[in-house]
Amino acid sequence: MTANSTLFRPFSLKSLNIKNRIVMAPMTRSFSPDGIPTADVAAYYRKRAEGEVGLILSEGTVIDRVASSNDSAVPHFYGEQALAGWQNVINNVHSAGGKMGPQIWHMGIMDNHHSGWVPAQPFEGPSGLNRPGSNKGNTMTDADIADTIAAFGRAAADAKRLGFDCVEIHGAHGYLLDQFFWGETNLRTDIYGGKTLPERSRFAIEVIKEVRKQVGEDFAVIIRLSQWKPASYDNKLAHTPQELEAWINPLADAGVDIFHCSQRRFWDAEFEGSDLNFAGWAKKVSGKSTITVGSVGLNGEFLAAFGGASSEPSSLDELLRRMDRGDFDLVAVGRPLLADPHWVQKIRDQRNDELIGFSKEAFKQLI
Ligand SMILES: Cc1cc2nc3c(=O)[nH]c(=O)nc-3n(C[C@H](O)[C@H](O)[C@H](O)COP(=O)(O)O)c2cc1C
Repeated sequence: MTANSTLFRPFSLKSLNIKNRIVMAPMTRSFSPDGIPTADVAAYYRKRAEGEVGLILSEGTVIDRVASSNDSAVPHFYGEQALAGWQNVINNVHSAGGKMGPQIWHMGIMDNHHSGWVPAQPFEGPSGLNRPGSNKGNTMTDADIADTIAAFGRAAADAKRLGFDCVEIHGAHGYLLDQFFWGETNLRTDIYGGKTLPERSRFAIEVIKEVRKQVGEDFAVIIRLSQWKPASYDNKLAHTPQELEAWINPLADAGVDIFHCSQRRFWDAEFEGSDLNFAGWAKKVSGKSTITVGSVGLNGEFLAAFGGASSEPSSLDELLRRMDRGDFDLVAVGRPLLADPHWVQKIRDQRNDELIGFSKEAFKQLI
C-alpha cells in the first residue's frame, strides 16, 4: 500500500478548515420522521466526527417547497422543528471536533416512493419529465422558479446561521437542477431552456447566485454535479473538455468554490485521450478545488449496492496516484463510512485487516 499521507494533509478554503482530505459523501438515510432529524441522526453524524472524517456532507435535505421531496422521512432544511434538529446535529459534530455542511436538495420530478407517501402537491420540474417519455408532474411556472430559487437561498442562509461550515447544492443524479441541465428533461422554450447546456444552466446559475448572496463571500459553497443519471448511466452532459468548461465556468463565476464531481468509479476516464477523471477535468478547466468520489476503497459500485450487492475493501493506490499528481483536492467516501464510523482511522493507521467492506445490512440502521 502506498503511503497515504496525501489524504491526511489539512485543507482550507474560506469558512472551511478541515484536518484531512476525506469527505463523507451525502447519503440519504430516511431516518427523519416528518422531515425532522432525530437524536439518532445527530449521534450517527457525531460518530463520523469522532471517527475523524475531515468534512461531513449531510444526506440530501430538502428545501421549502411543497413538492421538493418524495419521502416523508427525508429531512427538511426548513421549519422550526427540523432546523432545531439540524442545530443539534451540528452542535454534536462540532463538539466532537468535526466539520459539516448540509446538502440542500430539491428532488424535482420523481417516481412515487415505495412507502406510498406523496407530497400535497404534484412533483415539479422544468418540463414535467423525470426521464424521456415519463411525465410525472408539473412544469414549473416563472413564479415557481423564483420561489424555488428563494427557498435554496433561505436554506443556505440557515446553514450559515446554525453554524455549519459550508453548504452543498445538489445539482446531480437526475434531480431538479440536473433536470434543468439535461436536454431530455428540459424542453422549455423560455430563458430556462435552450439547445445548449450553458443555456439550460440558467436555473442553476440563479440558484448559486442567490445562495452566494445569502451566505456572503467568505462561506464555502460546493455544488455536486454528475454526468450520469439514474435513467442513463452512460450519459454525458459535456462530451468534451471544451463543453465541460462552457458548462462549469459560469457556475464558478456565479459563486461555486468547490465542484463535487460524482462518478460511480473514480478511476473511469471522463474523456478519450487522457486518464483524468471528472474531478480531474473539472479542476483543470475551472482552476477550482474539486472533490472526487466513487468506489473509493471498495471493489463494487454503489448502484449495485441498492440491488443488494456487497463490496469488499480494495486498495487506495490508484486514488493516491491521482491525488499525488494533483488531480483533485478532496475525496468523498460513501458506503465505507455508512458501514463503519472508524474507516478513516483504520485507513490512516493502515489497519487494513480491520476494514469491513459494505453489505446491504448497513442500509437498515444508523450505525
Ligand atoms: C444509501 C445511499 C444514499 C445516497 N444518497 C445520496 C444523496 O442524498 N445525495 C447525493 O448526492 N448522493 C447520494 N448517494 C451517492 C453517494 O453520495 C456517493 O456518491 C456514492 O455512494 C458513491 O460513493 P461510494 O462508492 O463511496 O459509496 C447515496 C448513496 C448511497 C449508498
